[in-house]
Amino acid sequence: MSTTTANLPKVFVTRRVPEDGINFLRNKCVLTQWDSDDAIPREELKKRVKDIDGLFCLLTEKIDAEILDCAGPSLRAVSTMSVGYDHVDFAECQKRNIPVGFTPDVLTSATAELTVALLLSVSRRIKEGINAVKDGSWGTWKPLWLCGQGLDGATVGIIGLGRIGFAVAKRLMPFGVGKMLYAEYEEKDYASQLPAEYVDLDKLLKESDFVLGCCALTKENTGLMNSAAFKKMKNSAIFINTSRGGLVNQDDLYQALKSGEILGAGLDVTSPEPLPTDHPLLTLDNCVVLPHIASATMKSRNAMSELCARNIIEALNGNIMPAQVK
Ligand code: DGY
Repeated sequence: MSTTTANLPKVFVTRRVPEDGINFLRNKCVLTQWDSDDAIPREELKKRVKDIDGLFCLLTEKIDAEILDCAGPSLRAVSTMSVGYDHVDFAECQKRNIPVGFTPDVLTSATAELTVALLLSVSRRIKEGINAVKDGSWGTWKPLWLCGQGLDGATVGIIGLGRIGFAVAKRLMPFGVGKMLYAEYEEKDYASQLPAEYVDLDKLLKESDFVLGCCALTKENTGLMNSAAFKKMKNSAIFINTSRGGLVNQDDLYQALKSGEILGAGLDVTSPEPLPTDHPLLTLDNCVVLPHIASATMKSRNAMSELCARNIIEALNGNIMPAQVK
């Protein structure tokens, strides 16, 4: 924990975070920090937020009425070092006139890149290939062994054509994608820049060779990818999720993968996180699970940390945050 002595606003940072954010905050506030790489226990968070002016949090902290009550009326800015803010009770913050900041844009490239990597590792059966090399099951070259699905001519369906969905689509087009579909929502006229066609979710699920979860998690789409959705997908289709684990009913996904209803899945996000090591999904060859690393480049994480810090300082200075949830 570090503090300065000046009579400045108090900001609490809930974790060790990349230094650009901390450097930005230094000398602009009285800074205290949960000095650990692990998440702050809830009871500790409740104590540490008391009387602070600004809260720099992560997606691992649930910022709800209880935490806001513990902070008290001094709290004037909440900013999360993430683009997703489903862990922050935005309505409750609004009620109390506390602006909420997040970190869009600066992680878009990194997240899109990882989404493509995950898609390719599932579709080209990279995990099985690596395992075969290691465990000696790699025999002679075989024409029918480890054949996957290519992107050339494929139909890609994106659930949520926001910043990240668009960035993923742009990166996939050069692989020779035949058709790009999207469902649920579009931001900023992205579809015309691809081009991509709007379809309802049913059609997207039925027609896509690859279904990609790129949307923010909301109450409405929680559990959207359930057994009914997987049944609509082609048996040869692959599902990729880099949004939030809550989008998927994981028991249903397991059944769909096990029974061959869909061909494969790649998840960078699960529910819960970490996924218990004895989770059935981890027993499947046709499922690749990563530990929520889509935004994990040094460049992106530093930019997220700095933007999160800027959000707080701007709000404490009475300005609109550079990235404020609307
Ligand atoms: C986010 O920012 O919401 C990602 O899930 C982690 O970077």
